Amino acid sequence: MRILHLEDDLKDAELIREILLLEGMACDIVRVDTQTAFVDALEGGDFQLIFCDYSLPAFDGISALKIAMEKSPDTPFIFISGKMGEDRAIETLKHGATDYILKDNLTRLVPAVNRALRELSEKMERRQADEQLKESEKKLRRLSSELLAAQEKERRRIAGELHDTVASSLSAIRFSIEKILGQKDQNEQTRGELRDLISKVQLANEETRRIMADLRPAVDDLGIVPAINWFCREYEKTYSHMHVEKQIDIAEDDLSDSLKTAIFRISQEALNNIAKHSGASLVNLRLQKGKSRIELTVRDNGQGFNLDTSRRGLGLSTMRERTELSGGSFDLESAIGEGTFVRASWPLA
Ligand SMILES: Nc1ncnc2c1ncn2[C@@H]1O[C@H](COP(=O)(O)OP(=O)(O)OP(=O)(O)O)[C@@H](O)[C@H]1O
Ligand SMILES: [Mg+2]
Repeated sequence: MRILHLEDDLKDAELIREILLLEGMACDIVRVDTQTAFVDALEGGDFQLIFCDYSLPAFDGISALKIAMEKSPDTPFIFISGKMGEDRAIETLKHGATDYILKDNLTRLVPAVNRALRELSEKMERRQADEQLKESEKKLRRLSSELLAAQEKERRRIAGELHDTVASSLSAIRFSIEKILGQKDQNEQTRGELRDLISKVQLANEETRRIMADLRPAVDDLGIVPAINWFCREYEKTYSHMHVEKQIDIAEDDLSDSLKTAIFRISQEALNNIAKHSGASLVNLRLQKGKSRIELTVRDNGQGFNLDTSRRGLGLSTMRERTELSGGSFDLESAIGEGTFVRASWPLA
């Protein structure tokens, strides 16, 4: 164990070395008695402990403590001093000293050293655990973001597959039926059945396109503003008892592609939750570029819910996740009978 000892009295330093030796503490003690030597030693050496006399001819203990706190904040710092009133002793602890020992009561030295070393090792363990926690949180965030990206990619892939297989087969079937219908040799009944088939194929085609549009964020083709307008239009068609009020005040260039996707998906989930859970008649959606932030808010006049006790689904946590992973912050306000308010905002780049 390496100890740095700031002490002008050779005899005292020797006594302390002997006490430690007697207790079986093998240590390498570097004694210094000036500020320059103290600073040099701190900068150069790897010490596990610092002992310090309170008053020295050309230097003082509190200044030494301040220097040590700055240069080597984790190293336990123990005052070993001849004269030190209680006020002073408390003062040293306030400044960050680990302990203080009076020279006429050196029996406390070894227990104090042991305690300081134990506390240090506990502190290091805690720090390491904290770092590991931070590291795994970072990993988790990266995984979440990869997961969301993979999910978007997979959705696009399925939409593409649907387009190239089901949708194109349905078009081909429709074309063939129309061709048969164009021939003159069917009776009225067959014609009627064929027309019926055409409208069924047409329905299947529309359903497929709706699913494709759901899978593939419309922002890809349209841009964010038309995509939200389109989604709200379709939404009002499906949930005809609801009206969506929009205030969109943003330009396409204000947003990166990934932020557009995030905003679109968050709006989608907020509106879907309103349809599923709120019983609202009015929704207000705002997307605005302010002075320092881009802000998306969705408010409904529905029944609201209790944030502490409600079921936890994937929707709310994914909205928060998407917002935070794209550098924004997410808030949710709701109360029974008061409607729900979702707010996601991002600092301007
Ligand atoms: N606008 C809203 N109005 C009333 N209750 C809501 C609203 N949004 C969310 N909730 C409540 O919060 C709960 C959690 O929402 P969340 O979107 O996380 O899950 P979910 O919609 O139930 O399921 P999913 O995982 O499919 O989204 C809902 O079950 C509902 O009780
Ligand atoms: Mg939901």
